Amino acid sequence: MRVLIWMFFAVGLVFGQSTSTDEANWKAFLEWLKAQPPNSKPADLINPYRDKLLREGVPEPEVSRRMEIIWTGCYHRPDGVGLFWSKIFGGDKPIFTEQPNALLISAVQGRKPGRALEFGMGQGRNAVFLAQQGWDVTGFDPAEEAVRIANKNAASLGVKIHAIVARDDQFDFGAAQWDLIVVTYVRDLNAHDAAVFQRALKPGGIVVYENGSSPGNAVLRAFLGFQIVRFEDVETLGDWNREEKQRVQKMIARIP
Ligand SMILES: C[S@@+](CC[C@H](N)C(=O)[O-])C[C@H]1O[C@@H](n2cnc3c(N)ncnc32)[C@H](O)[C@@H]1O
Repeated sequence: MRVLIWMFFAVGLVFGQSTSTDEANWKAFLEWLKAQPPNSKPADLINPYRDKLLREGVPEPEVSRRMEIIWTGCYHRPDGVGLFWSKIFGGDKPIFTEQPNALLISAVQGRKPGRALEFGMGQGRNAVFLAQQGWDVTGFDPAEEAVRIANKNAASLGVKIHAIVARDDQFDFGAAQWDLIVVTYVRDLNAHDAAVFQRALKPGGIVVYENGSSPGNAVLRAFLGFQIVRFEDVETLGDWNREEKQRVQKMIARIP
């Protein structure tokens, strides 16, 4: 029995240590990233850290393991997304079209402007377009640099947007607030998002969604409580990472 207790203790110690080491590695990466110049291409921004670890003599399999954690952190960790995307938007060779999203243009054509919310607005290509069409636009994004550029773009075109630095889990979507919610190339939406949007939209309000996404019908399934006005799953040139065609899902969903 005593041996068993010691075994559990030892295993706990090893796993606990590896988790806290991973956390320390992540923090070290963030410090490194803060000091890097902006770069529009995620791989060009992050891969030099891989080279640095190899130069420091970290064995290749361990470097690969750490880089996997780092990539996930850049896209998903609350303390990573803002900094990562600020570095991307600060770069001078955007890997996305700076034109508004085509699905959004078609969705608002002939629609009376009202209150619009953009989730993950980036540098404001959609938000500024909507403001030009007479919409009262609020947009949020965790990347300070993106929000700074969005405000600058709006000002240079003589329109006003309400641009907020926040992640989705920090933003209060409210109830019956919006005639339109736009989410382009942020992430795959899920059932939680659908419930939040259903509450946040006014009657007749719509969601416009597009993403270079994981295959499958998960997004469509999540929005079955809405009237699906349009849904496409196509191989096409997306708005982001335009070097080659990708699988893109597009959806317009309406509160019945
Ligand atoms: C690929 S860019 C798309 C930007 C913009 N929607 C567009 O289509 O040009 C992804 C954006 O999602 C934002 N983002 C990442 N995590 C987020 C979160 N948790 N909440 C809100 N926005 C987020 C990033 O800061 C970045 O601006």
